Amino acid sequence: MRKYRIVVLPGDGVGKEVIPEAVKVLKAVGEAVDLDFEFIEFPCGGEYYLKTGLEWPEEAWQTCKESDAILFGAVGWVKNGKPVRLPNGDLAGSNVIFSLRFGLDLYANVRPVKLYPGVPSLLTYKDSEHIDFVFVRENTEDIYVPIRGMLSRGEEKELAIDVRVITRKGAERVIRYAFNLCVKRGKGAPLDRKLRVTCVDKSNLLRGCQLFREIYNMVAEEFPQVEKDYMYVDTMAMQMVCFPEKFDVVVSPNMFGDILTDLGAALQGGLGMAPSGNIGDKYAMFEPVHGSSPDIAGQEKANPIAAILAAKMMLEWLFEKRNDQKCKKGAELIEKAVKKVLIEGKIRTFDLCYGPYSNVKPSKTSEVGDVIVEEIKHEV
Ligand code: NAI
Ligand code: MG
Repeated sequence: MRKYRIVVLPGDGVGKEVIPEAVKVLKAVGEAVDLDFEFIEFPCGGEYYLKTGLEWPEEAWQTCKESDAILFGAVGWVKNGKPVRLPNGDLAGSNVIFSLRFGLDLYANVRPVKLYPGVPSLLTYKDSEHIDFVFVRENTEDIYVPIRGMLSRGEEKELAIDVRVITRKGAERVIRYAFNLCVKRGKGAPLDRKLRVTCVDKSNLLRGCQLFREIYNMVAEEFPQVEKDYMYVDTMAMQMVCFPEKFDVVVSPNMFGDILTDLGAALQGGLGMAPSGNIGDKYAMFEPVHGSSPDIAGQEKANPIAAILAAKMMLEWLFEKRNDQKCKKGAELIEKAVKKVLIEGKIRTFDLCYGPYSNVKPSKTSEVGDVIVEEIKHEV
């Protein structure tokens, strides 16, 4: 039997609470469908930096490169009310994410926006029938490339520059990824079941976005079965709230996707419900969309479902890469168990205790993981 080597990087804050739940669920899946996982865990992030002066152990990077997949929590820590920073001002821990995203060339950040039944919609007239699309965010360029600077005049900071880079190669591969995903997903938009890839940009103004849209048009020619759709980023913020059912797959440059997918998380019941995959041609890393949440860390309050659904995405990716049916079955088991627990409604963390569930006593992070594990055991 093949053994899957999974690097586990819980990171800071709630990352340390939700990732153990995802690992627990993967272990249950391993037993259920006879999958063999080896979990190799490393500490990382701002708290680790305070202790050691490093953002992660030196051997972690090489181990990631030799692994089958990476499961990541979140980084970013606060001490005495202030974010822990590196001497250059960057958030301590951010180089872990950027080393992985840039260093392993994980160019597609795939973020499903799906409202599960049992999670009350925050929009009065939209429910789980309307909200089911996938956001594909470019993940290696745009304003997050490390071309930036700050100039001071004496003590005073005077000028700051962040350079936004969009390349032909970067745009082309992520747009092609989005079209392929749309065809593979095959279900179309909830509104009309049409296969559709929406290009989100600001091409009425920005040169990088003009290039992005030009390449979108070029790639779209290869997919005549998929409807072309264009949206300026500001309009998109409105449309995601007013007409989420129009969207099937959405593709955008990096920063627009970063911002809009937190709005997407709100459509699916909050950041505790939003998973993501950072996917390249060779490697992939899976994580909840949320950060380290210092406001609720250490209190067993965090919703682990985003992390557990990230583990499900990891199994889907392993299935695609290795053509291992057991991984596919494992992913299906996780989703079925999550759906059942949400519909039953009794076990849920505080963030989901609203609307018809406002009288439910909030569960602890680990209690949610436990019932999902029990469901997985029952399913087989
Ligand atoms: P955040 O995502 O950590 O939290 C935003 C809000 O959502 C908070 O009120 C939090 O309590 C709530 N929330 C998030 N995850 C939740 C969960 N699983 N269950 C229930 N509620 C949840 O974003 P914030 O507060 O802006 O950033 C906190 C730190 O995380 C910062 O240092 C930031 O830089 C870092 N960060 C790291 C990311 C990563 O490692 N990929 C991504 C986003 C932020
Ligand atoms: Mg973000």
